[in-house]
Amino acid sequence: MMVITSPKEMNAWSQTAKLQKKRIGFVPTMGCLHRGHLSLIEVARSQGKCDTVVMSVFVNPLQFAPNEDFDKYPRQWELDKKLAEDAGVDVIFHPSSEDMYPANAKTFVEVADLSSVMCGLTRPTHFRGVTTVVAKLLNIVSPQVTVFGQKDAQQCFIIRRMVQDLMMETKIIMAPIIRENDGLAMSSRNRYLSSDERTQAVCLSQSLERAEKMINAGEKRSAVILKAMHEYIQQNPLAKVDYITVVNTETLQETAEVFNKSLIALAVYFGKTRLIDNIIL
Ligand code: PAF
Repeated sequence: MMVITSPKEMNAWSQTAKLQKKRIGFVPTMGCLHRGHLSLIEVARSQGKCDTVVMSVFVNPLQFAPNEDFDKYPRQWELDKKLAEDAGVDVIFHPSSEDMYPANAKTFVEVADLSSVMCGLTRPTHFRGVTTVVAKLLNIVSPQVTVFGQKDAQQCFIIRRMVQDLMMETKIIMAPIIRENDGLAMSSRNRYLSSDERTQAVCLSQSLERAEKMINAGEKRSAVILKAMHEYIQQNPLAKVDYITVVNTETLQETAEVFNKSLIALAVYFGKTRLIDNIIL
């Protein structure tokens, strides 16, 4: 596995790979890799039919607000290198903040409307940071296929829209959520949870399962489903709901009824740790 830190070198590597008729799959991450990230590599190869996989490891300062956990965000570069190599990554792109954001940079990428709802309400500058860095990464790596995890479903829908609106060439694949044995969606932030919080955090996936059962039994009214989810989560004293919502995946606007392809998503705080989860019907 190669480690490339310079954007120029990364781009040159990709151009050469394309001349060799290689299909490049790309998995952008902020490191601190877990099984969820590693599953994206496999999806790039199988579903994306890629014969070479590039993973980026870059903790993007632009997507953290000043009051968020940028400094505290877990970093484990040596372990990430080993995990990525064992999982079959061909190149890790690990740029510096200075290279990604030169002091005179003045350009930001923002997807209107979709970025200001759901997680955008509590994190108003977050998705602008995500789309700006992902646009840069896609320009540098120039992959035919890019894989994101469904756990960050809003991020994935926003990036799909950016790629479509900016006529970018890459195909976006959304890969399934990987869960712990008890159902908690894997996340680098799970390690912030105390043991009591970790025990109670399973209520996120359980509330989504409950919603799915209600829908399978014929319930369509979003308000009824959301009320049941709220009540279920509120039984856990350490959980504080940020939002629970039913939206249309195209517009991310709330809908009064659930329908095929509705996204049911939620964000819940445990202390300062904010966890997200979702299902797509
Ligand atoms: O999902 C993430 O880890 C980040 O938001 C991403 C897409 C790598 C951009 O920094």
